[in-house]
Amino acid sequence: MSKPEASKKRIQAIRGMNDLLPGQSALWQYFESQVRLLMQRYGYDEIRTPIVEQTALFARSIGEVTDIVEKEMYTFEDRNGDSLTLRPEGTASCVRAAMEHGLLHNQVQRLWYQGPMFRHERPQKGRYRQFHQVGAEAYGLEGPDIDVELILLTARLWKQLGLSEHVTLELNSLGSSEARAAYRDILVAYFEQHHEVLDDDSRRRLSTNPLRILDSKNPDMAPMLAGAPQLLDHLDDASRDHFERLTAILDSAGIEYRINPRLVRGLDYYSRTVFEWTTTALGSQGTVCAGGRYDALVEQLGGKPTPAVGFAMGIERLILLLETLELVPQDATPPLDVYLLGMDETATRAALLLGERLRDRLPTCRLQVHCGGGSFKSQIKKADKSGARLALLLGEDELAHDLVTLKFLREEREQQRLAQSELVETLESLLATP
Ligand code: HAM
Repeated sequence: MSKPEASKKRIQAIRGMNDLLPGQSALWQYFESQVRLLMQRYGYDEIRTPIVEQTALFARSIGEVTDIVEKEMYTFEDRNGDSLTLRPEGTASCVRAAMEHGLLHNQVQRLWYQGPMFRHERPQKGRYRQFHQVGAEAYGLEGPDIDVELILLTARLWKQLGLSEHVTLELNSLGSSEARAAYRDILVAYFEQHHEVLDDDSRRRLSTNPLRILDSKNPDMAPMLAGAPQLLDHLDDASRDHFERLTAILDSAGIEYRINPRLVRGLDYYSRTVFEWTTTALGSQGTVCAGGRYDALVEQLGGKPTPAVGFAMGIERLILLLETLELVPQDATPPLDVYLLGMDETATRAALLLGERLRDRLPTCRLQVHCGGGSFKSQIKKADKSGARLALLLGEDELAHDLVTLKFLREEREQQRLAQSELVETLESLLATP
């Protein structure tokens, strides 16, 4: 290919990174506004952190021998030779920022965030390389009450979105790190007895991260995994007590859950409570929200010991779920109310000014002024295509007498000519009735 031709070739988006098009953004906005309101109602404050951090932050918190750190991070050297990484998740950044700004000094913090995360995974439905999470993190609280609060908050969101019937809560406890280390030895001994059944991936994990073998979806290993010793039977007393109190509050709150002893999560920072909300409606990428306790992380990153718990949900998966289940609210994409057009250049200028006056007086009215000229016929066509309910027309005659012509685009009603001074009142009453 010659150089000029090559430079004309269209550049495409990066695989696994999606554009959000106008037709879809209303549903995202609907979701995001529900979340924002909910976080406010529970007293969580928003935190925004950069999407790039020092690589060591993620390596030290998520764990060197996790899939995320080993295979999935977008890591690069910047011009100073520093190793930076596009954030693969929000918890590590949240801890870093909270420590850096002294938010964790002997105080309780309830924080939430949303934004893009990056993981170089194999893209498929519900799994992307740039995806978006909403997360919440609570610091300084040790008891299971805060774990329950986070679960109740998510359960309320499912209710508001109409998803309650379609998601299941799975729960487990990973205990203390000492209990986990002791269990790890028991588990490795069990897997070694069944070495012939382990697939290559699991054999590799045997020395690095044996708990993750429990997560394997390989059907040939299923019977062996079903018989594996369970961490829940090897919990330390304090963690067992925490878990029992957690499930007791969930029972009294009427939250249904399934204890899944094989739920271990793919990030190393967890201890005690872990949970996932899953759905069967999305195929293999069915986890829509996941989280748990990470009581050791703040200290591990150089802070004072601080109990912590949180979750993150995948926005793309929840949007897909709403679409799959046809739960998209009708008013997620409200059409225009008014399309205002001027028949010639002078009238267009007047229309722009009238548009501003109407927006001053009618703050909830969705109004668009026609720009770009064109014949009367083509402008009316555009008005119709815009989805607006009403068209307002300004022509030479209207301008000369301070009038405006009101045309009903969706109803069998005669068009009207009215004084511009009556316009606000007329629109108010028309728009009050759907
Ligand atoms: P995670 O399980 O890695 O946890 O991700 C949380 C959620 O993000 C997943 O359940 C899923 O809905 C969504 N998600 C993850 N990867 C992708 C992807 N490649 N494409 C689309 N969606 C995805 C965390 O990130 C932890 N930081 C959660 C947490 C917060 N734990 C405590 N606090």
